[in-house]
Amino acid sequence: MTDLPDHNRQMVLRERPKGNVSDDNFELVTGPVPTAGAGELLLRNRWLSFDPAQRGWINDIRSYVPPVAIGEPMRAYGLGEVVTSDVEGISVGQLVHCKIDWQDYVVVDPSKDATFEAVPDGMSDPTLLLGVLGLTGLTAYFGMTEIGRPGEGDTVLVTAAAGATGSVAGQIARIKGASRVIGTAGAADKRAWVTDVAGFDDCLDHYDEKVRRKLFDAAPKGYNVIYDNVGGSLLDACIFNAAVKARIVLCGAISTGYRPEKPEVGLHFYQLLTTRSARMEGFLVSNYEDQYARARADLAGWVADGSLHHELDVLEGLENAPEGLRRLFAGKNLGKQALKLSA
Ligand SMILES: NC(=O)c1ccc[n+]([C@@H]2O[C@H](COP(=O)([O-])OP(=O)(O)OC[C@H]3O[C@@H](n4cnc5c(N)ncnc54)[C@H](OP(=O)(O)O)[C@@H]3O)[C@@H](O)[C@H]2O)c1
Repeated sequence: MTDLPDHNRQMVLRERPKGNVSDDNFELVTGPVPTAGAGELLLRNRWLSFDPAQRGWINDIRSYVPPVAIGEPMRAYGLGEVVTSDVEGISVGQLVHCKIDWQDYVVVDPSKDATFEAVPDGMSDPTLLLGVLGLTGLTAYFGMTEIGRPGEGDTVLVTAAAGATGSVAGQIARIKGASRVIGTAGAADKRAWVTDVAGFDDCLDHYDEKVRRKLFDAAPKGYNVIYDNVGGSLLDACIFNAAVKARIVLCGAISTGYRPEKPEVGLHFYQLLTTRSARMEGFLVSNYEDQYARARADLAGWVADGSLHHELDVLEGLENAPEGLRRLFAGKNLGKQALKLSA
């Protein structure tokens, strides 16, 4: 304990944002380092994960989790290093993944956090648990294999294809035998990564006003599987280009900004689901909690044999945490957005 500083920095919610988050919505405050009690761990936080859902957690609305209160540290998951341990089987120096929030130090009780897990011994790169072997990789795995179910000869479309979830989803489709995999993304360098590194056949600019037509040109017979992370007008353009019997996977709707207001864009082409005998299905990755181990083994195998490429987009410093969240909604991240803490 002698090497611990006497203070803990926390990035707390100062006010609820209206649109994308700004630095002013948060405030960096300093308090004492918390003390762990019986059955608890004190963690020095090392890595923060950024997830679009976090934007929803700061809306003052009833949801699947209570909103972060004004004055509380921003809720977040990530990796922490154990500083003190009163938990059997968890030793000082070990890395664990759990809810750690935007702060330098945190006390956790593993029995009260269903997401708690120790980084497995021998894992070469623990940051894999933030992305490709963490929730975004698992989301891509189950959404694609359980709902999209691409097969031989299928043409697959993935939106937000340069992101943590989309990039993995598209590569899984290829691994599962899809004959063509098309993505959409914003910036040119991200689109180049999707084709040149992740191996998609094409990646279209979703900002192109003619994106609906471009999607048609890229696959005139339509898409058999559509894995959508974006929603809104882009999902509409995707539905327009769905093949007969298409499976449309509703993974997320980041274009809504996860703000509390009614989304600006509705769906205009949903009636095509009837004439094309297609279906749309949403899911939560947590529906498959009991199968995470199997999925992780597959994902880790594909990473190891080089068939699954992934990126970690790294920011540094707790003071930059609002920027980490903002980048997801501004399309600045390539792959998984993370932040390295330096406490
Ligand atoms: N169902 C589940 O259980 C589950 C679990 C985890 C995540 N998700 C969902 O999966 C999706 C991806 O999450 P992620 O963590 O992997 O994030 P991500 O894809 O790494 O980052 C978000 C990306 O979305 C794109 N984007 C942002 N705003 C957009 C807009 N208005 N229009 C079009 N594209 C926009 C941006 O890329 P470009 O603009 O370059 O394309 C941005 O980089 C999100 O919708 C998230 O809510 C669902």
